[in-house]
Amino acid sequence: MLVVNDPEDAERILRTHVKKSVLYGAAFLGDGVLSTNKNDYWINQRKHLQEAFFPNSVFAHQVFPKSLARAKYAARELLAKQCRDGPPVVEINEFLLNEAMAQLQLALIGESQEFMDRTNKPIRTTFANIFTPEPELNAYLAKVSVCRREIHAWSNEVLANQPQGPLGKLLVTNCPAIDDAKMRRDAVSTFGFAGHDTTANLMTWCLYEVCQNAGIMNRLRAEIDAVYAMLDAERRDMQYADLQRLPYLSRVIAETLRLWPSVPNGTFRETEFDDVVKGRGGAMVRVEKGTQVNIPVWLLHTSPALWGPTAEVFDPDRQWQGEEIWRGQALAAWNPQSLRYMPFTGAPRDCIGKNFAHMEARVILCELLRHYDFALAEPTLSRAAKARRRTVDDFIVRHPCVTCCACRLTHRGRALRVRACRWAGQQHGHHVSQGRHLPARDAATRAAAAQAVNSRARAWVGGCFLINLWTSWLMSAGSALLFF
Ligand code: HEM
Repeated sequence: MLVVNDPEDAERILRTHVKKSVLYGAAFLGDGVLSTNKNDYWINQRKHLQEAFFPNSVFAHQVFPKSLARAKYAARELLAKQCRDGPPVVEINEFLLNEAMAQLQLALIGESQEFMDRTNKPIRTTFANIFTPEPELNAYLAKVSVCRREIHAWSNEVLANQPQGPLGKLLVTNCPAIDDAKMRRDAVSTFGFAGHDTTANLMTWCLYEVCQNAGIMNRLRAEIDAVYAMLDAERRDMQYADLQRLPYLSRVIAETLRLWPSVPNGTFRETEFDDVVKGRGGAMVRVEKGTQVNIPVWLLHTSPALWGPTAEVFDPDRQWQGEEIWRGQALAAWNPQSLRYMPFTGAPRDCIGKNFAHMEARVILCELLRHYDFALAEPTLSRAAKARRRTVDDFIVRHPCVTCCACRLTHRGRALRVRACRWAGQQHGHHVSQGRHLPARDAATRAAAAQAVNSRARAWVGGCFLINLWTSWLMSAGSALLFF
């Protein structure tokens, strides 16, 4: 396994070696668009499914209204009820995972409310269980096999329901690559898996960071309040195009994805032809066709060489370059990408759901920040100060939620030892937030209300430490390349 940390090499490999690593074959997503290592399967599915993500024709008219309606209901009804009637703390990561899955099923796939309510929690638990190891390998493999069956059953039920959302319609229709039942099922499983915890964890980390910086929180709220004031004055609801009126929120989201990329491991590819990459000390290293390559984006995102001495600081106002930050013309089809920043990896095999993620995260965060105060509470409060230190010891002690399992696979006659890692943070989230439901809509009333802290209503910001042992170790080792 070759781990690439040179920005130019990373960008070129993303662009020219689109074939996925054999590693994905061990997962449960079969020949879905994310995991297939057959390029023709990938391109056919990508072309077919891309239509569900057209911003102006599809998002603005079909997806956004449903997304907004759900976000309003979740913030104004569900979370309010939890704050009012529930335990003194509410785990906000769990709330956000639930909401991201609800958005996916209701707004994009077009499932019924009944199906979503019934399957939301169970299917999320199943996905999370797959990445929660057991002490004993056989027990773990048995658990994976049960989870795989449950995911396939859920996917088959989605298909049988003939969902009418933009993505749902495409998932049930034949396309050149997914015209048999297994391929269609793999496609549904892929979206169930890739389309919920990624955005939920982005929102969780965003709240986690904003909670620690009153200045950022105040600016964010001022921007959001101004947009709602404008909407009130115009006596209308938010529309898709109004997301352009939130440039500071865009910066906060961009910075969250830099420090806490939802997929810190980035991607795993297989080189499609002989190539050359930079090794230690700038020495050129020949890479044979068929080599398994990992591009962990978190390494690039936090490198002081690329971001300067403030690489570790959460600073939405930092000097962004080129396409890294959305510049306000259109949210559409925009992949925030540069040589040092690629939270959705790079074209052409970047994240297909990025526009949807941008949209739902903004809509949900607006609704939450408009109505609630958030602050860290114990035990996260005590841990937050050290959360970004990166020695191996620290990491192991502070991130027990990381799951790793070692496995063996054979590729092209060679035995490779690989470590397959994934996070199960949502089950072990420790970020805690105190939240308070604020029925008042305007900033002045909210500021007055904020004087009297209501200690009864709290929300857990159950953060997901999306950190990989392997990546962390690489960071502390500072290596450019590693061969296993
Ligand atoms: C903040 C939210 C998200 C982030 C940071 C993110 C990030 C990524 C990354 C890094 C990849 C490449 C993975 C790899 O190569 O192994 C990817 C692929 C993918 N993502 Fe996302 N994702 C997000 C949200 C979503 C959503 C909401 C959906 C679905 C609605 C989605 C669907 C997919 C799919 C299907 C792929 C495979 C694309 C392909 O190979 O052509 N993602 N995402």
